[in-house]
Amino acid sequence: MEIDKRSLMEFAANLAVQSGEIIRQSENKIQSIEHKSEVDLVTDIDRKVQDFICGSIHKEYPAHNITSEEQFERREESPFRWIIDPIDGTTNFVHGYPMYGVSIALEYRDDIVLGAVCNPCRDELFSAVKGGGAFLNAQRICVSKTEALEQSLIATGFSYAMRETRKSLSPYLGIFKNMVEKAQGIRRDGSAALDLCSVACGRFDGFFEEGLKEWDVAAGQLIVHEAGGRVTDFSGELLYRGQTTLLASNSRIHKELQEITLHFLELYEKI
Ligand code: IPD
Ligand code: CA
Ligand code: CA
Repeated sequence: MEIDKRSLMEFAANLAVQSGEIIRQSENKIQSIEHKSEVDLVTDIDRKVQDFICGSIHKEYPAHNITSEEQFERREESPFRWIIDPIDGTTNFVHGYPMYGVSIALEYRDDIVLGAVCNPCRDELFSAVKGGGAFLNAQRICVSKTEALEQSLIATGFSYAMRETRKSLSPYLGIFKNMVEKAQGIRRDGSAALDLCSVACGRFDGFFEEGLKEWDVAAGQLIVHEAGGRVTDFSGELLYRGQTTLLASNSRIHKELQEITLHFLELYEKI
């Protein structure tokens, strides 16, 4: 079956921008904050945005499946599945730190075919259709040309799982220490979807995190790939569903990053 990627992309991009607008208008209007776990938060705004996105998809494409972070799952006999993070960076949103966004991806026969990530704090829409390049507000983007880790700005994130399961911090801290010693700088921005988009447009040269979920990375991963970057797990293998480590880069520094992550991977396996 030929799929109309162009109109699906237009639909997803509009949805991401409209959702971003809802999030921006809801700043300072949060009414409820619940703890899904010790440090994992959900607000009434996450749910409101999720209802808007899932309702819009259902109206336009009633047969499509949907997986969205805040416990929304629709499973039908369809090769299409939308993968949604209504607010990526909820902790930032709750604290008024302007780095959060909405992530929308579409999977067709187990393959991500398009992604849209909107950062309403900066009026930025990142998008990509598989095979068609990556864009920021309709301008083509590509990853940085940085050749070495010592000239690189690297982003990371701290998995909720480390707190939730009391999983040992030491493998992650081993990688972190090496990156601090070898990179030009390290940042933790608090939104994995936007971290990936920052790799795609060359603001970051690389990004690593452990314990991410598919809604955090589905759209951003395609955007990095379409911008000329590389996304693998910590051992350099292509990502498949269920993997818990993620390493993204401008391709050029991937090997250097991977040497560090690979070295500590064994420690994760022993936990
Ligand atoms: C989180 C953010 C954060 C990352 C966490 C994610 P959420 O998503 O992407 O940067 O470090 O691992 O769970 O909970 O804000 O949607
Ligand atoms: Ca998320
Ligand atoms: Ca979220």
